[in-house]
Amino acid sequence: MPQRALFETLKEEINKRIIMKIFSKFNLGSIELQNRVVMAPLTRSRAENNIPNQLMSDYYGQRASAGLIITEGTAPSANGLGYARIPGIYNEAQIKGWKNVTNRIHEEGGKVFLQLMHTGRVSHADNMEEDSEVLAPSAIALNGEMYTDQNGLQPYPVPREMTREDIIQAQNEYVQAAKNAIKAGFDGVEVHAANGYLIDQFINTASNKRSDNYGGSIENRSRFALEVTQKVSAAIGSERTGIRVSPNGAFNDMEAFDDLEEAYKYLAHELSHLKLAYLHIVEMAALGGPDVPLSLKLMIREAFGGPVIRSGGLDKETAEAALNNNEAELVAFGRSLIANPDLVYRMENDLSLQDPDFDTFYTPGAKGYTDYPFAAVNVT
Ligand SMILES: Cc1cc2nc3c(=O)[nH]c(=O)nc-3n(C[C@H](O)[C@H](O)[C@H](O)COP(=O)(O)O)c2cc1C
Repeated sequence: MPQRALFETLKEEINKRIIMKIFSKFNLGSIELQNRVVMAPLTRSRAENNIPNQLMSDYYGQRASAGLIITEGTAPSANGLGYARIPGIYNEAQIKGWKNVTNRIHEEGGKVFLQLMHTGRVSHADNMEEDSEVLAPSAIALNGEMYTDQNGLQPYPVPREMTREDIIQAQNEYVQAAKNAIKAGFDGVEVHAANGYLIDQFINTASNKRSDNYGGSIENRSRFALEVTQKVSAAIGSERTGIRVSPNGAFNDMEAFDDLEEAYKYLAHELSHLKLAYLHIVEMAALGGPDVPLSLKLMIREAFGGPVIRSGGLDKETAEAALNNNEAELVAFGRSLIANPDLVYRMENDLSLQDPDFDTFYTPGAKGYTDYPFAAVNVT
């Protein structure tokens, strides 16, 4: 390439990188992220016996060029283990397995938060250990069926309504799990309060019919979310604690209740007192769920006052626009990071993206997991 053309290309490249906010660094609490790209939490069901393994370490290591990885939903206790082959963080073998994952991500220059996901009623005994129990705010079963390795699809069970003691026990499990996560080398944890899992089951009127001070009013339905998050952040540090919410979410039989805007405003405002690392807003419109109006997202952002991550159907352009319009500090990518381990490199260089293979989202083994090719690096 003639020198002048080479110079122009380099200049163009440098400008592109300087101009685009998505590729700029961000200080999340005390950790520095290399860019604003977040790997969204993605359940991949590769954890045989619920223990993180070498294959998972390879998978996350491949994706460590994202500024921040948020792991797949991980059970804080045996009761929270609803799906087949999802990992936990409540015993020594799991902590050791995760340590291998966090070491790998850090070696590759990445940062990682563990998503704490207690599945509540989204569960089945076949996917759980003996002596564990399907618990929820109220004894209301989900409609439909749950996949199990042993017996295929099974109707969702009716969960046992949690007592006051169960609530305290579950909160303590989140706290212990968060401490275990720090022991395993994580940079922080994300409390999963979205998508119809346990915490969302308290927030949403479809699954919470309680008459005590954990049900009924907005304050009462938010109590479990706030107490869990407060206790976790007190245990490991607020700058190491994030939370994910799904306003208007319909996944796992959640409903659009009457006082929804008010409820999320209250929740975000109460969370603002905790000075958390971030609030993560997920919308599932790209996966067939309802739209989340921009006004609702901005209202939550304002009430929270701290860093916000946006997730759901983003690409390079829409993510950059969200950052430039001051709608978020960080942008998360799910399916595109499944299919493109080098998503950041591909976006930086305007390379085409590979499509994800839906059939292997939750199947065991390397296929559709660690075998998505990296873009060939042009070395002319
Ligand atoms: C295979 C798969 C697994 C997912 N697992 C989780 C999960 O464990 N926790 C969670 O909060 N969201 C989960 N999600 C939602 C994603 O984090 C993300 O918000 C969603 O895919 C929308 O983003 P996208 O359009 O960039 O894929 C999952 C989505 C997919 C496709």
